[in-house]
Order: sequence, then structure tokens, then C-alpha cells
Amino acid sequence: MSKTATLEIDGKKYEFPIIVGTENEVAIEIGTLRSATGAITIDPGYKNTGSCKSEITFLDGEEGILRYRGYSIEELAEKADFLEVSYLLIFGELPKKAELEKFENDIRKHTLVNEEMKNIIDGFPKTAHPMGVLAALTSALTAFNPKPVNPNNEKEMYDAVCKTMAKFLVIATWTYRKSMGLPLNYYDNTKGYVENFMRMMFEVPTQPYKFDKKVIDALDKLFILHADHEQNCSTSTVRIVGSSHAGLFASISAGVSALWGPLHGGANQAVLEMLEEIHNNGGDVAKYVLKAKDKDDSFRLMGFGHRVYKNFDPRATIIKQAANDVLDALGVDDPLLDIARELEKVALEDEYFKTRNLYPNVDFYSGIIYRAMGIPVGMFTVLFAIGRLPGWIAQWKEMRLNGEPIGRPRQVYTGHTLRPFTEEKNR
Ligand code: CMC
Repeated sequence: MSKTATLEIDGKKYEFPIIVGTENEVAIEIGTLRSATGAITIDPGYKNTGSCKSEITFLDGEEGILRYRGYSIEELAEKADFLEVSYLLIFGELPKKAELEKFENDIRKHTLVNEEMKNIIDGFPKTAHPMGVLAALTSALTAFNPKPVNPNNEKEMYDAVCKTMAKFLVIATWTYRKSMGLPLNYYDNTKGYVENFMRMMFEVPTQPYKFDKKVIDALDKLFILHADHEQNCSTSTVRIVGSSHAGLFASISAGVSALWGPLHGGANQAVLEMLEEIHNNGGDVAKYVLKAKDKDDSFRLMGFGHRVYKNFDPRATIIKQAANDVLDALGVDDPLLDIARELEKVALEDEYFKTRNLYPNVDFYSGIIYRAMGIPVGMFTVLFAIGRLPGWIAQWKEMRLNGEPIGRPRQVYTGHTLRPFTEEKNR
């Protein structure tokens, strides 16, 4: 591989260094492009643009590979638990037993959320979408924790990590409790992180909550599968907001808003709504595949396609199996699972989907599992956010420790050139 790339503009040649990642990804470093040539690059949607160097997650979209810190997603989903994976993403190595115990205990020290936060929740209508409430509450945490974390101070950063992991989980469940008119629950420090999620969601004061190990294990695995995905829309948002040295809570709140969109994390809710619609309209899968292919129809097959995966999404493969297992284990017979299977089959055999490399993604089957667990549809994307939290934290921390400059893209202006002001009477 040559060490430089040559660019020719108006007969003049310019050399730019080529950098190669540890998995042989090749990039042309264009840091001096504008000063040398006067030109910039333009790449809407950043389809060809790397925004940073990162040691956290490796993703090969052609081969369907996903690894956190070098460990395959398949192995992590099978052998690790969510807090272990969170530690790995954020601190770079799998924790030793004592480190993991300390991490869990240190998270527990921050599980009380300021009672005044409840006044803020009271301001929302019950009908508010949980993701909107979650973004607002995460941002509000900044007000209760005004001192910005210094990422270069190891202890301060570690405390901020534990605090964020603790409080985010609690307020995430509060968004649901509020919508149901239920009393807001507290974390129980004698229970595990994922157990607490289910408990804080569903325990009512009138009777004890019964844990179902199958549900907890499946949820733990789903959180692992969502934990990081390199420079996706919400993660890039977290990094770019943090690059102005905005705090961790403010940056994560922005990530929650970015995740909410139906082309990103909001797709899990959109998939379930789509499957319900197909079911309620007689289950005619072929009709919806035709709609998705029709360029005059804005309908897309939700849960299909991915910016980076052009072969298969390894998370979807694991989730599809988990959906079968969980529904079997819980004894749930869901007609939406049959529709999903049929939709997948029809789409995968269709030329339109084949030529565009459109495959089921992580969101295609996850909603079916959540539904079987009794999680309401409006909370699906909140679950994605809980899973993605350690990834956002890890990426924020890496960005700050690398001393990355403020994110500030350029543009090619295509508006009016200078024109004289028109007096109101002459407009
Ligand atoms: N249904 C029908 N056609 C589609 C779909 C779909 N789900 N996705 C892409 N296409 C078509 C698109 O119309 C275009 O066709 P043409 O070349 O004829 O114009 C072609 O495929 C390429 O699509 P694109 O929009 O240029 O691709 P992208 O990389 O910009 O978008 C995507 C990726 C995920 C936003 C898109 O595939 C999509 O909207 N999928 C549905 C939403 C979804 O499931 N999102 C979850 C993504 S995975 C979870 C996450 O990481 O957030």
C-alpha cells in the first residue's frame, strides 16, 4: 500500500498521507487539504468520512463483523454480562473479579436521584413519549450535578461514569412509571443492574415483584448487543456535542435525542408498529414489500437496511435466535413473529432488496422480544438507550482524552451571492 495519495486540481498535484488502522482500514488524511489547495471535501451523511481514530469498536460491514475492544460480539453476548461489557468499553479491558465488584458497588453509591427531579417529571403530560422525557431528564441532571468532569482526572472520570450509569437507568424507568401514573421506584442496591431495570419498571407497592431469570438474561444480552456501534448517528452526536467541552450529561442527552429518530434507534418501535399494521390488515406481507419498493410511496421496511452492514447484521442473527428462545421459554405464541419471519423471507428473495444489500438489522427482531417480556412499545427505544449508554460514555471519554478539536464541519454555500437590501415598499 502506497504511503500517500495524490490529488490533482487544475494540473497541480498534492500529496496526502495514507493511514491504515489495525484491521487494515485505509484512510486519506486530509488535515492540510484546505490550507494547501483552498478546497474542501463534501460528503453528505458522512458516507465516506471518518470523524476520528478510535480504539473502541471494530465493525466490518462487508463481512458482518462487530467487536468491542477486540472481542467478538458473539462471544461477549454468550459469555459476558452487561456491566462487564460496559466496563470493557469504557475502560478498555475486561474487569478482574474485584474490579467488576467494585464497579457494581460504586454504581450503587449513585442510585439515588435527587427528589427535586420528580418536580420536573410532574411537568410532563402523561402522554409524552418516554424518549422525549428521557432526553429532558438527562439534560436536567446537569443542573443537579453542575461541576463539569475533568476527563484527565482518573478518579473524577470514574465517579462520573458510575454516576451516569446509575442515574440514567433510574430516570429511564421513571419515564414509564410517569406515563402509567405509577409511583416512581427506587433502585434496590441488593439486586443487580438489569434486575433493577425490570423491578423499577414493573414492581408495584401492593405486591412483591417476581423476577424471571430468563427475562433478565435475555435483556442483559440485548443490552450487550446494543452497547456500542462505533460512529453511528447518536454516538457521533455525543462526540460532537462533547467536543465543545459540554458536560457528559448534556452530551448524552443529545445522544438520546439523536437515537429517538425512526431511521436510528426509533426503528425498533417503528418495526413493531409496522408488524402490527400488517397483522391488523390481514397479514398481506407481499403488499408491504411492494409498498417499500414503490418510489412514490415513502414507506420503508422498518428494521431493514443499514448504512454500514451490506451483508448481514451480526446482532440481528443473535437476536433472531434469542427471539425464538425467549418466546419458547416464556410460552408466548406471537403472530407478529410469524409475520416478521415471512417478511424477512419475502424481502431476502426479492431483487430490490438483494441488489441494494438490504438485510434485517438489530431492530427487526428486538421489539418482538421486548413485547414478549411485557415491555410497552413506547419504551423500546429507551431500552436501546440504556444498552447504548456505556458506548456513549466510552466514546465521549476517548474523544476528550484524545484532545480532539471542536467538531465544526464546513459547507459549500449554494445560496444567493451578495445582493442589495430591498426596501419593504419595493418587495
Ligand atoms: N426499505 C426500502 N428501501 C430501502 C430501505 C428500507 N428499509 N433502506 C434503504 N432502502 C433503499 C433506499 O430507498 C435506496 O434505494 P435507491 O438506491 O433506489 O434510492 C437504497 O436502499 C439505499 O438506501 P439509503 O437510504 O441511501 O441508505 P442509507 O445508508 O442512507 O440508510 C438506513 C440506512 C438504515 C437509514 C436505511 O436503510 C433505512 O431507512 N432503514 C429503515 C430504518 C431502520 O431500520 N433503521 C435502523 C438502523 S439499525 C439500528 C441503528 O443502528 O440505529
